[in-house]
Amino acid sequence: MLVYRLSGTLDDEDLTAALWEAGADGLEERQGFVRAYFAVQMPLDHLPELTGGEWLTEPERDWQADWKLGLKPVRAGRVTVVPSWLVQEVEPGQLTLIIEPGMAFGTGHHATTRMAIEALSSLELRGRRVLDVGSGSGVLAIAASLLGAERALGLDIDPLTIPVAFENAELNGFTRTASGLKSREGGLLDFAQGTLEGESYEEQERYGALVANLYAELHDLLAADYREAMQAGAPLILTGILEGKLELVREALEREGFTGVQERLDGEWALVTAINGPR
Ligand SMILES: C[S@@+](CC[C@H](N)C(=O)[O-])C[C@H]1O[C@@H](n2cnc3c(N)ncnc32)[C@H](O)[C@@H]1O
Repeated sequence: MLVYRLSGTLDDEDLTAALWEAGADGLEERQGFVRAYFAVQMPLDHLPELTGGEWLTEPERDWQADWKLGLKPVRAGRVTVVPSWLVQEVEPGQLTLIIEPGMAFGTGHHATTRMAIEALSSLELRGRRVLDVGSGSGVLAIAASLLGAERALGLDIDPLTIPVAFENAELNGFTRTASGLKSREGGLLDFAQGTLEGESYEEQERYGALVANLYAELHDLLAADYREAMQAGAPLILTGILEGKLELVREALEREGFTGVQERLDGEWALVTAINGPR
């Protein structure tokens, strides 16, 4: 990589104009110097005429490697979400959930996903069936399963998310079976395209916990469906809610007979938990 370095700042319009005119691909200011980047293919005996600085040849920068170096494991309660190359950094006693950052449909790096995993982590999920509405990458259903859920189902209206969620589950040691996925400990996990809308459930089909990372207006619309899909006394975890829209969710939950409504904030994002009331 060819760099022309001279003292100055990017506020100096004459200087930056001269560098752009000379054919620079990019400019950067670092420690009192302006650095102009030029295409490597430029013949060294035909360098643009510039004065006041010096030409440097520097090794190519691996932007992807730099980006990877900046990533850290995300600790969320008993679970740590990591990219595959940081698995050895998970502290002993933490459950490892591998999701490659940068991929679509939700990683542990968003405040809402992290808060939802923390809330799941505070529950005793062993022996429970968990429903994840809007499963995206599958991160929350996988977390529920790693936390001991007997069975977890992720539903998403976007069909593109389903194969991605399956792949992520496999990355976490789940194996495919004729009816979904199975964890190393024998927990069952599945993903399907769909949503909750006006469906009715037999008592034995109802879920022992429900998590949904959607948005406030949708929680308002789906509140009655959440209640129908859940056993009485089961915990509900809702996030994807902007702080300013909390009232909408609060009112919807009270209207439908949820009790013990609690809220948590992380920046502009809120997480709401509640308990399904008696039928
Ligand atoms: C913010 S992402 C959450 C992904 C993941 N659960 C997480 O926590 O990182 C929301 C997901 O909900 C899905 N979605 C949106 N509306 C939905 C609906 N009505 N029913 C089911 N899924 C829905 C979207 O396709 C998207 O994958």
